[in-house]
Amino acid sequence: MKSTIIKTNDGSDSLYVPELDEHYHSVYGAVQEAMHVYINNGFNFSDISPISILEIGFGTGLNAFLTYLESKKTNRIVKYTSVELYPVASDIVEQLNYPEFINNEEKEFFYNLHKADWNCENRINDSFILNKINQDLLLYQPNEYFDLIYFDAFAPDKQPELWSVEVFRKLYNHLNENGILTTYSAKGIVKRALREVGFKVKRLPGPPGKWEMLRSQKV
Ligand SMILES: C[S@@+](CC[C@H](N)C(=O)[O-])C[C@H]1O[C@@H](n2cnc3c(N)ncnc32)[C@H](O)[C@@H]1O
Repeated sequence: MKSTIIKTNDGSDSLYVPELDEHYHSVYGAVQEAMHVYINNGFNFSDISPISILEIGFGTGLNAFLTYLESKKTNRIVKYTSVELYPVASDIVEQLNYPEFINNEEKEFFYNLHKADWNCENRINDSFILNKINQDLLLYQPNEYFDLIYFDAFAPDKQPELWSVEVFRKLYNHLNENGILTTYSAKGIVKRALREVGFKVKRLPGPPGKWEMLRSQKV
């Protein structure tokens, strides 16, 4: 999928996909949104370690990078699986300002996330294991259980098939008890689909510029 780099309002980069007329992150702030939705209301909501995380949409690797930086602060061990159908080209990755914007001392770690082989486990370091799966979410069949899911697909009006009851049921069935799914979208259709498969859905304040987000728990 062809994309171009744009600057979001907090100064961090994101990607724009003309084909879908869609951005990878909130235009109000990519890093701000990722920190709010996935780190503060997802990763930090739990204190499990080692923690097994599934991300839908590896994209720029921003969520993986922020998760690693956060895990270091509390000495947590992370096993990170991410499903991605359209890997971002390396010339685009090299231009993203995430290392210098977030933590330039960890620049190598950011690039190592991208250099890691697909479809196998990569020990990026002693506390972070990454498995990037190059597959359509619709075909992906998890063969393990997760504690936390970052559901970061393109918006429901752009890719409605990814926000379906069938997809959420598959993910629910591969969450551990009390497992969490966190997502930036609080659309009615998303809430209803999550509830239908059995999640307890909680609306939370969204990041700056967005009214709400959702955190759902397997009960
Ligand atoms: C909102 S962006 C994800 C942003 C990413 N988490 C990041 O921080 O850059 C959505 C991602 O889903 C991927 N995607 C689109 N359709 C997909 C599909 N059918 N299966 C798996 N991934 C898909 C896109 O290529 C894109 O990387």
